[in-house]
Amino acid sequence: MLIEIQVNGSAHPLDVDPGERLLDTLRDRLGLTGTKEACGRGECGACTVLIDGRPVVSCLVLTARTRGAVETVEGVADEALQLRAAFADLGGFQCGFCTPGQIVRGVGLLREGLPPGEEALRRAMSGNICRCTGYVGIIGALRRAEEARA
Ligand code: FES
Ligand code: FES
Repeated sequence: MLIEIQVNGSAHPLDVDPGERLLDTLRDRLGLTGTKEACGRGECGACTVLIDGRPVVSCLVLTARTRGAVETVEGVADEALQLRAAFADLGGFQCGFCTPGQIVRGVGLLREGLPPGEEALRRAMSGNICRCTGYVGIIGALRRAEEARA
């Protein structure tokens, strides 16, 4: 079917299978391989993108049903400059596989203003699983990026 999706500020006319996942469209058709697949069933957050500013797991979204402006980690890379630096400085990643999804969700939260308190911020990030870091560096990086924005 012929559709058009908006990704990182550009319109992409595509001929897609009705069952094609947004994750595959981004990676395989548009070359946006920063969006990662891990669990493939909506549980880990590695494939997180923003749609109209809200975090969505792209492995559970059908491209043909995608409405709104999609942003991937490539699209938010400049905006996330301070957050990326803070991840590096504070040990927010080790293997790095979860990191694009963490960055994307983090950018979405920073736009709204991070929830106050560590527990609330951990809950807000709980859709993004990291098997390496224990989350201390991730939470610290978000707070540092928030300070840098202020
Ligand atoms: S790959 Fe999509 S949530 Fe895990
Ligand atoms: S850095 Fe390895 S899973 Fe998060």
